[in-house]
Amino acid sequence: MGCLTAGEQKYSRGLEGVIAAISSISCIDGDEGNLIYRGYPIEVLAKYSTYLETAFLILYGHLPTEKEFEDFRENIKSNYELHPGMIDTIKNFMMDAHPMDVIRSMVSMMGIFCKDKREFSREAKYLKAIRVIAKIPTMIAAFHRLREGKEIISPDKSLTYSENFLYMMFGEKPDELSAKVLDIALILHAEHGMNASTFSGMVTASSLSDIYSAVTSAIGTLKGPLHGGANERVMSMLDEIKSLEDVKPFIESALAEKRKIMGFGHRVYKAYDPRAKILKDWAYKLCEMKGDLLHFKMGDEIEKIMIEKVGKRGIYPNVDFYSGLVYTHLGIPRDIFTPVFAMSRSVGWTAHILEYLESNRIYRPRAIYNGPIDLEYIPMEQREE
Ligand code: SDX
Repeated sequence: MGCLTAGEQKYSRGLEGVIAAISSISCIDGDEGNLIYRGYPIEVLAKYSTYLETAFLILYGHLPTEKEFEDFRENIKSNYELHPGMIDTIKNFMMDAHPMDVIRSMVSMMGIFCKDKREFSREAKYLKAIRVIAKIPTMIAAFHRLREGKEIISPDKSLTYSENFLYMMFGEKPDELSAKVLDIALILHAEHGMNASTFSGMVTASSLSDIYSAVTSAIGTLKGPLHGGANERVMSMLDEIKSLEDVKPFIESALAEKRKIMGFGHRVYKAYDPRAKILKDWAYKLCEMKGDLLHFKMGDEIEKIMIEKVGKRGIYPNVDFYSGLVYTHLGIPRDIFTPVFAMSRSVGWTAHILEYLESNRIYRPRAIYNGPIDLEYIPMEQREE
């Protein structure tokens, strides 16, 4: 029997170190802690670009001309609205549903309510990607308003992508700082190579399934606390620790019990996640402005202790460690942190799906068989209890 057996091939748990694609979208230098999107360092994009311009860069491979950006922005804005059938459906959702379950279900519904679903041209695929990017913010905000017993707020096309999301969530146009900080956070979360949720979407798309199904897969994957759900748990950890004096004993006992500290560690980064560095600065500014330096100091103390204890093993803060503080002080509810991550990462997901489909081959890895071979079939009545 030609089963793959142990010893014939190297098994890599979690596909660690396995190359699953060739891509020009981003590059992660895990040893030095650097990240570039299409050749541009994220520090430069966070400083000079906007989320929507970065989204164009990631999707199309170059920074847009003014005309290209205007057309792209109008295309996004013209796709903000949800189909009335989707709005009727969301009104019948359980209002205590997790918002990640809501957007996973609603993106899946796009395959039912969006027209041109049977068109598979390159242009139709890009249009589906733009629809996903445009509609996820509306889905998140609509559900949040409904669960608060409030009216859904329609998108305001006069606002930027980030301003519009905060407007649809809270019913008023955000202050300049809040909109800017959210936009920077969306830039930092937009793309990250072969992370679990991106790979999950690519696997689905590689069977030539549709983009909505592929993004549904990605959202389901991102929901997990080892991936996108960590920032919610960072804030719960700060609640549990309570004071600055309790930080050291809490972290030391957690490490002694081999518990993982959320917001730390990474499969690729064995240095400080460059996104966390930028988010830490903004977290400080927001915490100082909101008079919440205690939480920031607790985070900084956790970071110091973790780097001292496990930094030598390559365990440093990752993107999730300070994003929770940033979102908290933007007024974003904790269970909407990961949906905001999904809103941003919809660009990276769709860019990798579209890139891989250019020279598609269905993903189909192997498994080493370590079970028995050639057993005799015993009739049920003769089997011993
Ligand atoms: C994201 O892949 C991406 O790019 C993801 C992401 C993106 O942008 O898409 O960057 C976003 O997912 C960030 C990660 C958010 N998740 C967390 O913060 C959860 C906590 N982190 C860990 O669960 C872990 O670090 C992972 C999941 C992020 C990485 O897991 P790996 O590479 O499989 O590492 P591992 O679990 O095999 O750990 C290796 C060792 C273990 O010790 P030993 O068993 O060898 O003794 O490091 C230890 C782990 O116990 N370790 C930690 C730790 N992370 C790893 N110990 C304490 N706290 C941690 N956070």
